[in-house]
Amino acid sequence: MNTTTLTSKKLLQLSREEMQTLGYQVIDLLIDHFDTVHNKPVTQKIESSVLKERLYESIPKTGTSTQFVMQQLQNDVFNNVMHHNHPRFFAYVPSPNNFISAMADTLASGFNIFAGSYKAAPGATEIELMTVDWLRQLCDLPSEAGGLFVSGGTMANLTALTVARHIKLPNEKQNAIVYYSDQTHSSIERALYILGFDHTQMRKLPSDENFCLRLSDLKHAVFKDWIAGNLPFCVVANAGTTNTGAVDPLSELSDFCLREGLWLHVDGAYGAASILCEQGRSALKGLELCDSLSLDPHKRLFQSYEAGCLLVRNRNWLKETFCMRPEYLSDLELQQEEVNFYDYGIQLTRSFRALKLWMSLKIFGLESFEKAVQQGIALAELVEENLRASTCWQVITPAQLGIITFQYIPEGLNLSLEDINLINSRIIERMAKDGFAMLSTTKLKNRLVLRMCTINPCTTEADIRKTLQKLRHFGRVEASILQLNQQKVS
Ligand SMILES: Cc1ncc(COP(=O)(O)O)c(C=O)c1O
Repeated sequence: MNTTTLTSKKLLQLSREEMQTLGYQVIDLLIDHFDTVHNKPVTQKIESSVLKERLYESIPKTGTSTQFVMQQLQNDVFNNVMHHNHPRFFAYVPSPNNFISAMADTLASGFNIFAGSYKAAPGATEIELMTVDWLRQLCDLPSEAGGLFVSGGTMANLTALTVARHIKLPNEKQNAIVYYSDQTHSSIERALYILGFDHTQMRKLPSDENFCLRLSDLKHAVFKDWIAGNLPFCVVANAGTTNTGAVDPLSELSDFCLREGLWLHVDGAYGAASILCEQGRSALKGLELCDSLSLDPHKRLFQSYEAGCLLVRNRNWLKETFCMRPEYLSDLELQQEEVNFYDYGIQLTRSFRALKLWMSLKIFGLESFEKAVQQGIALAELVEENLRASTCWQVITPAQLGIITFQYIPEGLNLSLEDINLINSRIIERMAKDGFAMLSTTKLKNRLVLRMCTINPCTTEADIRKTLQKLRHFGRVEASILQLNQQKVS
């Protein structure tokens, strides 16, 4: 039954009943997903050749029934994804979105709000201004600070560095230099390339033993550049690295940047939202001193993709950087106090991304967010406690803002670093096949480590304990395989 059953005579329209049928199907599917995701495997792997065979077809000339399309989507797409909102998805940066956020996106998309101009959507603009201001207050930035919602951390970083370049380098850009540690997210280098900086203008400094930017190295590099006739202009600091959750020394970096006239951009895409709880606040001391800050609600503030946010110390900088006045937009000119968000960033047409965070905060309240953020941090500490209680694990970096890294090192065996790395990468492969939980690996100073990010508020202590048991079991299996192979060789 895959031929069209639509009855409306109007082009590209559904009748009221058809809209209801499809709408209820969509909502039922989503409710079922939110209600049962914890019982499903975290990830389902399907061969790409199988998927291609199922999905590839020529452009359909005539329509297909909505039931058929929904069924196909469910079978081939939704049933074969990594569930980033699964309570045992501990890999990369989980995105434990909430149902209100999903409904808000449906509304923003259905009403097709143009959140670029005040006149097009004054209420949406006011909500975005206020929601950005709530984030500003939480991060303790001054009242003249402001910002906007963007698609995510990558775009927030690109937008921030565009502003930094415009404000700090009105004329000379050629020998301007940017500094950051080797733990900085790749989106920073991508942004610099997009902005026309080449690798000779990027100083990627080796991080210290805690994976933080070393102030003495930064000073050394900056002074050397001044002497060489270069133009130091920007430092990018981390408020929670992707690898380990490490926070660079923000207050000290700010002092130095102020003295040297450098822009301080803080990438808090992962970690900045930890400021909602006491522990995070203390780890993020100095965050309020930045010139610009990336902060992703689609990570630690439990929103559906895409929701990133950029805050800058003086909101006028955004307008100075991005405002253009093409003749075809002159009807959208404003009163003094109004804002066209298309003057604040890269996008002209932009969706109403602020709605989901606003609705979630309004309906759940800030206290629920504070507890959820605190719980994510505490769960990583629980992982650490369990690992330290067992002799086969080595904690490589302690729990920091919800991230912990560790290695399985079987007792009593004299293994090379290569062997240990191999065992650990195979543990993760086994875990992915098993489907109970998902972790990812990363490399820290030549060690391949297991990395667990525990920010989902639906994760339970039992989830953590069972995941660690499974990891240990897979470690034992892999160590046995290695020993057998070594015996064969000798
Ligand atoms: C610290 C940090 N910065 C930037 C990004 C990029 O964010 P997005 O993937 O939302 O573009 C990430 C992503 O995980 C991140 O952890």
